[in-house]
Amino acid sequence: MCGIVGYIGFQDCSFLLLDALKRLEYRGYDSAGIAVIKGGAIEYRRCQGKLYQLEALLRERPVKGNVGIGHTRWATHGAPSEINAHPHVVGPVAIVHNGIIENYLDLKEELQQQGAKFSSQTDTEVIAQLIAYFLQEGIFLEEAVRKTINKLEGSFALAILCAQEPNRLIAVRKESPLIIGLGEGEYLIASDAPALLPYTKKVVFMNDGEMAILSSEGIELKSFSGQPLSFQPVVLPWTPLMAEKAGYKHFMQKEIFEQPRAIADTVRSRVDLERGKVFFEEFCLSLEELKEIEKIWIVACGTSWHAGLVGKYMLEKLCRIPVEVDLGSEFRYRDPIINEKMLLILISQSGETADTLAALKEGKAKGAKTLGICNVLGSTLARECDHVIYTHAGPEIGVASTKAFTTQLSVLYLLAVYFASLLGKLTTEECKAYLSDLLKSPGLIDNILKQSEEIERLAPEYSKAEDFLYLGRDIYFPIALEGALKLKEISYIHAEAYAAGEMKHGPIALIDENMPVVVLAPQGKTYPKVLSNMEEVRSRKGKIIALTELGCEKISEKARDIIYIPSTSNPFLKAILLTIPLQLLAYYIAVFRGTDVDQPRNLAKSVTVE
Ligand code: AGP
Repeated sequence: MCGIVGYIGFQDCSFLLLDALKRLEYRGYDSAGIAVIKGGAIEYRRCQGKLYQLEALLRERPVKGNVGIGHTRWATHGAPSEINAHPHVVGPVAIVHNGIIENYLDLKEELQQQGAKFSSQTDTEVIAQLIAYFLQEGIFLEEAVRKTINKLEGSFALAILCAQEPNRLIAVRKESPLIIGLGEGEYLIASDAPALLPYTKKVVFMNDGEMAILSSEGIELKSFSGQPLSFQPVVLPWTPLMAEKAGYKHFMQKEIFEQPRAIADTVRSRVDLERGKVFFEEFCLSLEELKEIEKIWIVACGTSWHAGLVGKYMLEKLCRIPVEVDLGSEFRYRDPIINEKMLLILISQSGETADTLAALKEGKAKGAKTLGICNVLGSTLARECDHVIYTHAGPEIGVASTKAFTTQLSVLYLLAVYFASLLGKLTTEECKAYLSDLLKSPGLIDNILKQSEEIERLAPEYSKAEDFLYLGRDIYFPIALEGALKLKEISYIHAEAYAAGEMKHGPIALIDENMPVVVLAPQGKTYPKVLSNMEEVRSRKGKIIALTELGCEKISEKARDIIYIPSTSNPFLKAILLTIPLQLLAYYIAVFRGTDVDQPRNLAKSVTVE
C-alpha cells in the first residue's frame, strides 16, 4: 500500500520526510517523492524506484522547507513512473494520496471540459486539479479541499500543501488510515505509526470522514462538512527501536524471534492463574449476553483467516458454541445469515484490511455484536467494532505475518477459556491447567527457536523444490495452511496445504521424489492416521519433513528430516508451537533463494483496497 508522511514545524524537513518514508518501506512501493514549500513556491522531487534513488536526487538537487509531504506509491492507476509518482503538483497545490478514487474518470472529464490539462494517468491528479480549480475561484485552501473531498467517491488518505497558504498542512482521511503525530512545536502525519516513532509517541488516530488542519499554532480537526471535532491523543507503547531490526537480518527474522515476548505481553496481564480466570481490559460479556449468542462467526483474510480457523477448534471444543469461519472477501458478498444473536469476531493485524472492514460493516448492518482482535491501537477495526481485544505483538513490519499470528492464537485461546469458564463448561482446575499451559508457551517457543540453525541447514536442499505440499489434520490443518502461505509468499515456491485425510482424494497424484511434503505429526488422536498418510507419501518416494514431538521416535523410519517441538498434551498449545518451525523453514528457504523477505514481490503489508 502507499505510504504518506507530512511535516509542519520549525525544522527543514526534506530529509526528515525521507527518513519517515524509509520507515514505511515495508508497505511495498514502486516510486516515491516529496514536496516542500519554500519562498511561496512548491518544490518537489520524485522518481520511479526506491527511496535510495530519491535520496540521491535530493542530494543532487536539494529542496528546503519547513512544511512538506512525502509519499511511497504502490501503483493502482497508471504504471510506476516519475510522471505518475506522487506528489502531484497542480499550480500552487501539492498532494499525496493513499487509496482509490472510484469516480475519477467522470471528474477528470468534467475538469478537462473546463480546460484542465492532465499530465499523469493517476486518479490522484484529479484531486489536485479540483483543489487548484477552487483556489482559482478565490476560495481559501480549507474550503477548496472540503469542496473537493465531498465530490470524491472511494477511499482516500490525503496530505495537501498550498504555496498560497504556506503555514497550512491539511490531512484528510476516508477509509485509508492516517495518524497525526504531536511533537513539540511541530506536527507530523503518517499512514502508520513506525514513521512517527522517532519524533513523537503522542498521536491522534484520524477517523473516517475527518479533515485535519495543521499549522505552527496547532491542530484543528473537522468533519467533511466543516464541523469542528474534538480529539483524544494517545501515547503509543512502542519505541523506535521496536520498529527497527535490532540487529536481525530481516524484520521477519526479528519478529519470529520476538514471539516469546509478544505472546507473554499478550497473555500475562490477562491471566489470574491463582483463580483460573481471564480478564480482558477492553472486553467483557455478561453470562446473559454470552448465553444469547447462538453462533460465532470469525471473519478475516490471509494469515488472520488461518488464526480464525484455529480459533474455531478452540471455541467449539471448550464452549460448544457453533463457529463458522469465513474469508472477508467472501463474507462481504455472501449476504450472510447473521443477526443480533450472533457474535462476529474480526481478526486483523493491521486493522485496516479492506475486505475485513467491509465484513465488519456487513455484520453490523445485520445487527451482529462485533469483536475485533487487532494489533494496531486505534486502527479502524479497533475503533469501529463494539469490542476490541488487542494483541500486544508490537509493530509487525515484515509483510509476512508471524508474531501477529501466534498472538492472535493466544487471544483466541484466552477467549475460549474465558467463555468456557463463564458458561461453566470448564471447572476452575481445568481453567488453571489451560492457562498454565499457555503461560508456558513463551519458554517452549524459546526452546524451539534454539533449533533455528538445524532448520536453516535444511534450506539449501529444499530451496530447489518447485512445489511443496503441507499436510495436517484437525487443529493442525490450519497450521499447515499457514506454513504453506509463509513459504509461498516469501520464497515464491508454490506450496499448498491439505487436510492429511484428503490426500487420497487427489493430491496424492502429485507425490514423487521432487515433491517435499511437510507433515504435522504431533501425538494425539489423529497421530496414527497421520503415520499412515506418511507411509502413503514415502511409498511414492515423496521427501517428508515431519514436525513432531520429542518422544515420537517411530516417525524417524518414515521421514527424511524431522523437526521436534517440546512434548505437551494440549492440542491448542501444540498448534502454537508447530507454527514456529514452519515460519523458520519458510524464512531460511527464502533467504537461501535470495528473495526480498521483508517486502516480497507484489505484496503489501496491509491491503487497504479491494
Ligand atoms: C500474511 O503473511 C500476509 N501478509 C497476509 O495474508 C495478511 O495476513 C492478510 O493480508 C491480512 O492482513 P491483516 O491481518 O492485517 O488483516
